[in-house]
Amino acid sequence: GAGHGGAYAGHGSRYGAFPAARPRRLRTTPAMRRMVAEHRPHPADLILPAFVREGIGEPVPVSSMPGVVQHTRDTLRKAAVEAVEAGVGGLMLFGVPEHKDAAGSQGTDPDGILQVALRDVRGEVGDDLVLMSDLCLDEYTDHGHCGVLDAAGRVDNDATLERYAEMARVQAEAGAHVLGPSGMMDGQIGHVRQALDAAGHTDVAMFAYTAKYASAFYGPFREAVGSSLKGDRKTYQQDPANGREAMRELALDLAEGADMVMVKPGLPYLDVLRDFTREVDVPVGVYQISGEYAMVEAAAAKGWIERERAILETLTSFRRAGASLVLTYWATEAARWLSAGR
Ligand code: PBG
Repeated sequence: GAGHGGAYAGHGSRYGAFPAARPRRLRTTPAMRRMVAEHRPHPADLILPAFVREGIGEPVPVSSMPGVVQHTRDTLRKAAVEAVEAGVGGLMLFGVPEHKDAAGSQGTDPDGILQVALRDVRGEVGDDLVLMSDLCLDEYTDHGHCGVLDAAGRVDNDATLERYAEMARVQAEAGAHVLGPSGMMDGQIGHVRQALDAAGHTDVAMFAYTAKYASAFYGPFREAVGSSLKGDRKTYQQDPANGREAMRELALDLAEGADMVMVKPGLPYLDVLRDFTREVDVPVGVYQISGEYAMVEAAAAKGWIERERAILETLTSFRRAGASLVLTYWATEAARWLSAGR
């Protein structure tokens, strides 16, 4: 074929020509493969999601996520330092309060666990990593929904926006550089932006959970935050059947002022991720969620797949689909591998 070594075409066996183009030439040695690699994950693009739980003396392992714990304030600080040392780009914090109620009041208490942990981590590592916090009510409500309920028991969109505005203010005051509104309420990005600006937090950025699907793969996360959710989130999270709808969410979030946008989960939604990265000029992130983590860990523990290779392959796939940021529970470990050139 044209431009692919055609001079040798025709050299062949009696059954036909041997190939003129030989892509295998660029796969011959590790050095060759490394040189021609189109995409590679980088530690600075990784974001470590972490859980901090109120009222515990020791970290509590999350059984469905081997290797992940609910941190104490102390061990969280250490995990943040380790992430910085490994070159990880950011931390996404989730608070697990001792007491939950219908309004999720711990989410707006300046002394709530997430807010004190934000202050701890900011005090420990300063601006050496990007400190992010989940802006959602499900960790704080006794019913487990991402918002407050109306008299009929439905998630009340606009009443929830007012709770988010208040959460945004306390999280910004506690030292978050970036807020991650993840509740999938209509108008949440615009509402939170206005609340931040009105409180003088014009430099606090928003990483919008733009296309967040009602996924079965969130299962282990619900253990990690001690969620008591009965039922599902299908009236606010997206239907896995819908791709074009994600583009509508994207347009809305950008119009409302999102600084970065996210697709979540990761592997089952690489098509949506690719669509996003072709469409926008803001950073696009992807969240490799708890169930994706659990699948790889479980299969690796059984010896069915090679753990490190499988993890790096998933991280590479996100880069290939165009993601510039990846939230992954393997962030610190993977960053060490990548720095070691693996
Ligand atoms: C909502 C939130 C969830 C996750 C991140 N933010 C749970 C949900 O929407 O049900 C899931 C993350 C994971 O599964 O790793 N606060």
